[in-house]
Amino acid sequence: MEMGNSSALFLLFFFFIRLNIVAQSQSSSFIFQGFNGGATNLSLQGAEIIKPSGALKLTNRSRYVIGHAFYVKPIQMFDTSASPSPNASSFSTTFVFEISTPRSGRGGHGLAFLLAPSTKLPGAQPEHYLGILNSTNNGEPSNHILIVEFDTVNGFNDKAENQGNHVGIGINTMFSNRSEPASYYINGTDHKEEMTLESGEPIQAWIEYDGEQKVLNVTISPAEIGKPMRPLISFGVNLTGYIKETMYVGFSASTGEKSSSHYILGWSFSLNGVAPALNVSELPKPPKEKEPSSYNPKILALIVSLCLVTFLLLGTLVFFLIYRKWSNSETLEDWEKDCPHRFRYKDLYAATKGFKESEVIGIGGFGSVYKGVLPTTGGEVAVKKITRNSLQGMREFAAEIESLGRLRHKNLVNLHGWCKQKNDLLLVYEYIPNGSLDTLLFKPKDGSVLDWEQRFNIVKGIASGLLYLHEEWEQVVIHRDVKPSNALIDAEMNARLGDFGLARLYDHGGMPHTTNVVGTFGYIAPELTQTGKASTSSDVFAYGILLLEVATGRRPIGSGDLLLVEWVRECHQLGRILDVADPLLNSSYVVKEMELVLKLGLMCSHKTQFRPTMRQVMRYLSGEKQLRFNNDWGSIDYRQGFDEFSSRTFDEISTVCMYVYSSVCSHYDGACLLLS
Ligand SMILES: *[C@@H]1O[C@H](CO)[C@@H](O)[C@H](O)[C@H]1NC(C)=O
Ligand SMILES: *[C@@H]1O[C@H](CO)[C@@H](O)[C@H](O)[C@H]1NC(C)=O
Ligand SMILES: *[C@@H]1O[C@H](CO)[C@@H](O)[C@H](O)[C@H]1NC(C)=O
Ligand SMILES: *[C@@H]1O[C@H](CO)[C@@H](O)[C@H](O)[C@H]1NC(C)=O
Ligand SMILES: *[C@@H]1O[C@H](CO)[C@@H](O)[C@H](O)[C@H]1NC(C)=O
Ligand SMILES: *[C@@H]1O[C@H](CO)[C@@H](O)[C@H](O)[C@H]1NC(C)=O
Ligand SMILES: *[C@@H]1O[C@H](CO)[C@@H](O)[C@H](O)[C@H]1NC(C)=O
Ligand SMILES: *[C@@H]1O[C@H](CO)[C@@H](O)[C@H](O)[C@H]1NC(C)=O
Ligand SMILES: *[C@@H]1O[C@H](CO)[C@@H](O)[C@H](O)[C@H]1NC(C)=O
Repeated sequence: MEMGNSSALFLLFFFFIRLNIVAQSQSSSFIFQGFNGGATNLSLQGAEIIKPSGALKLTNRSRYVIGHAFYVKPIQMFDTSASPSPNASSFSTTFVFEISTPRSGRGGHGLAFLLAPSTKLPGAQPEHYLGILNSTNNGEPSNHILIVEFDTVNGFNDKAENQGNHVGIGINTMFSNRSEPASYYINGTDHKEEMTLESGEPIQAWIEYDGEQKVLNVTISPAEIGKPMRPLISFGVNLTGYIKETMYVGFSASTGEKSSSHYILGWSFSLNGVAPALNVSELPKPPKEKEPSSYNPKILALIVSLCLVTFLLLGTLVFFLIYRKWSNSETLEDWEKDCPHRFRYKDLYAATKGFKESEVIGIGGFGSVYKGVLPTTGGEVAVKKITRNSLQGMREFAAEIESLGRLRHKNLVNLHGWCKQKNDLLLVYEYIPNGSLDTLLFKPKDGSVLDWEQRFNIVKGIASGLLYLHEEWEQVVIHRDVKPSNALIDAEMNARLGDFGLARLYDHGGMPHTTNVVGTFGYIAPELTQTGKASTSSDVFAYGILLLEVATGRRPIGSGDLLLVEWVRECHQLGRILDVADPLLNSSYVVKEMELVLKLGLMCSHKTQFRPTMRQVMRYLSGEKQLRFNNDWGSIDYRQGFDEFSSRTFDEISTVCMYVYSSVCSHYDGACLLLS
């Protein structure tokens, strides 16, 4: 009883195992529609799955490499339920491969579908052995291996006419038992269409074994045209005696002296059934490969000589460029590299079209001003070129300019930077489109007249800029040359004071004239001609003269040395101050404002002790504070020291005088004659 029980259990156990094996053998079917996610089901040696496409790359184009890819699970090749003498099971597989060969020359050596006893093929050789067998074990019955090769190189006993491009079946051997040139039968005919395995186009293959008929069929065709009805090879073979009970299915490929990339793009397999169909249009595309350079010695020599010539040309070019740079002497001293506002000479040269005469937009006391467009940014700039500049004291000078470069105010012409080239100094300013106040007042282009509102706004702007220089920046900056030609007018008709701080540069010895007094005749405070010491107060004096010019439309010095400020004072004493108002205004001005500007002009150009500061000037102009100009303050000798001064620095001021006298009133008794 006990015995019977245990034997029943044993039988049940045996039955279960057999059932399981049957189930396993019948379920051996898989499909890889591309190999993304296939890494866990494949055993790879020397092969890789290309991301992201999912192509399975058996070999690259390196020489003498081998690649293997096997399905990890073994295939039960015998239906053991049919023992004692089972036949090898039917199987069917299809896959799409692509062999990509360098454009120059033939590739090698091909790939093969395998039915092998193991996923490892130790001792396998590349080249004609396709990474499957070697010279020792080739043809050995103990190999138990079925090889369906897609060979691209002629070798072994392959018939000469095959020219390597063939499909073959070998059992335990690389010497194919059957082989055919790569081709396919056109449906319904006996005609074979030839194919090139290494064309770089996808090719589909079908390998089918009928376990009952003992026939192994192999078919290929260009992918996407479908399976030809007639197989390329139909080889009658009884696999039962050659293969083992469990086998692994997979691929091998190798390269040799000749090499190709071997890809499998999709694969399906079925035991005892038809392999699932691949959707060819959905398969991955192998990556484009770089064409390696040819080793043809003639071409190599050509390439080398071309490289040599190119190298020589480049060398000459570089030498020439360096030489030119050097001869332009744009070599930098150490301290220059620390100056953020330094411009490159070649940029400024290009911007001003080589400092062309036609680009000149002004000539001032310090040098010519050119309009320019920077090649680097396309921004418009004004470039002031100061010649005959001695290099002595350049370092201090640059420090000075670097500090001026940090001055930023809406009523100043901002200094962008500077550049020194041999003895020339170049200052780069923002470009202000409407020209100077001097031009708008005295030489308007189309006869247009600045109206009072514009004039009042302009003098307020200049005052604001001066106040910034005097009191609002980190150090006191004395302008020393306040005058209408230094006040530029921007697109919104706001005043922008230019040339500020330049006079200071004289003191550093970087400027052509090293005389201690700078300024323009007619705007120089009397005390300055005596002491030579510029101050914020002397700037206020010049500003006063500017106010009078704006209100009267007249130059500070008329013919016969008649001084504008004396004439306005006289009219004021006579109680007829409005008589001096610019006749071009046609009496259309705000009387209160006109009186304010004239009186403020007189006050600013009075003795030092009566002059307001720029802050007070701002308060008067804004109406914040009531202006009281007192006639009892006494007179001031404007001509004091003039003769001495003018003889001393006549050279310097002659250019300035040129335009002071270019259009003058014959006299200031009310009737003004413009001579030019
Ligand atoms: C691969 O293996 C995974 C589990 O590891 C399985 O889910 C998947 O279906 C397998 N794919 C193929 C094609 O065999
Ligand atoms: C080619 O593949 C082999 C392995 O098969 C690898 O060792 C080699 O680095 C690869 N060469 C290139 C250029 O990818
Ligand atoms: C093996 O195949 C032969 C015919 O090729 C058949 O007669 C025989 O029954 C088969 N054996 C088994 C166990 O199926
Ligand atoms: C060939 O391969 C076998 C194992 O498969 C190995 O024992 C043998 O040494 C190899 N021969 C050569 C010449 O590599
Ligand atoms: C295949 O060819 C090899 C070598 O030429 C030979 O030994 C073997 O018997 C052949 N096998 C078949 C099935 O024809
Ligand atoms: C193999 O090819 C022959 C001839 O075309 C055909 O009769 C047979 O059915 C094919 N067998 C398989 C399994 O496709
Ligand atoms: C040949 O016939 C088969 C079966 O009918 C078909 O699937 C295939 O597309 C045909 N091939 C061509 C090139 O017409
Ligand atoms: C196939 O080969 C096996 C083993 O060599 C043998 O037992 C069987 O009889 C063969 N079948 C046929 C049909 O020749
Ligand atoms: C193959 O894929 C294409 C595109 O996704 C699809 O339109 C077509 O129906 C698929 N064919 C089959 C047979 O699944």
